[in-house]
Amino acid sequence: MSNPQAETTPTATDTVVYTVKDGVAWVSFNRPAKRNAMNPALNRRMMEVLDELEFRDDVGLLVLRGEGTAWSAGMDLKEYFRDVESQGLGGVRKAQRESYGWWRRLRWYQKTTIAMVHGWCFGGGYGPLFACDLAFCADEAQFGLSEINWGILPGGGATKVATTLMPMRTAMYHALMGENLDGQAAARAGLVNESLPLDRLEARVTEVAHKLLQKNWTTLKATKDAVRRVMEMTYDSAEDYLVRAQEAANSFDGEGRKEGIRQFIDEKSYKPGLGHYDKSKKV
Ligand code: ACO
Repeated sequence: MSNPQAETTPTATDTVVYTVKDGVAWVSFNRPAKRNAMNPALNRRMMEVLDELEFRDDVGLLVLRGEGTAWSAGMDLKEYFRDVESQGLGGVRKAQRESYGWWRRLRWYQKTTIAMVHGWCFGGGYGPLFACDLAFCADEAQFGLSEINWGILPGGGATKVATTLMPMRTAMYHALMGENLDGQAAARAGLVNESLPLDRLEARVTEVAHKLLQKNWTTLKATKDAVRRVMEMTYDSAEDYLVRAQEAANSFDGEGRKEGIRQFIDEKSYKPGLGHYDKSKKV
């Protein structure tokens, strides 16, 4: 898939390209000739790109996509595994820090994130897939834990992603068999939110992105963090965390919350059960 909105013509050395349009940062894996396999150069560049975009006022949401026929064919088996292993343990740990580092950064990113998967998504690709808050794919996409096919367990978080998103029997079959799921099967299994025909994928992601951009950005960040955090908490811990998290969010954007209540209770201009308040109105 090419990025028609790209402002610059990618060169062979740009492992990541992006453009910002109408509040959305469209970020692409850009090693199409290598099916966007993640090598150390791409991992380093992706962290820089996330840094560049995170606090830009004109970026409210980030979409992660892939150039060419793949979203990402996972880790680069030559450059991430074989070449790095020849550098010894220090090289291996450095490469792991670089890849795990940007996935972790993306999991807790300030802005809302969407994975838009149109093609191959293998192994290590499950790290950034899970890191994105939402995921949409094309029916033509192919998802696989291919590790078993070449002789390693699904590491780098991939096993954790599979067992977090899918029921145990499904995750076990997926990890042991090394068979791929197409987009519809991935949606049924819980790997993505929705699967659509390829020609409707970008329009649907754009529609979701623009709906999210209308909402309070501080609240979106607090909410996405809350969903990830409470998954591993007891009910009581979650209840307590959510009180603290809301109070912390108030200290950054208490006015937004008050405005939301004002427009409902006093102005009667909207109903929170049916839509969002108008962020552009300030009294
Ligand atoms: N690592 C390194 N190089 C890769 C990778 C990869 N993960 N995936 C593709 N490439 C390279 C190929 O070696 C080939 O390079 P070349 O042109 O220099 O020979 C080029 O990308 C194109 O690959 P093809 O296999 O020719 O492309 P095709 O479209 O026919 O197949 C597919 C795509 C199915 C993705 C295939 O390339 C493949 O099986 N890749 C490996 C997928 C995989 O198992 N990834 C690792 C998951 S486990 C982990 O991430 C820890």
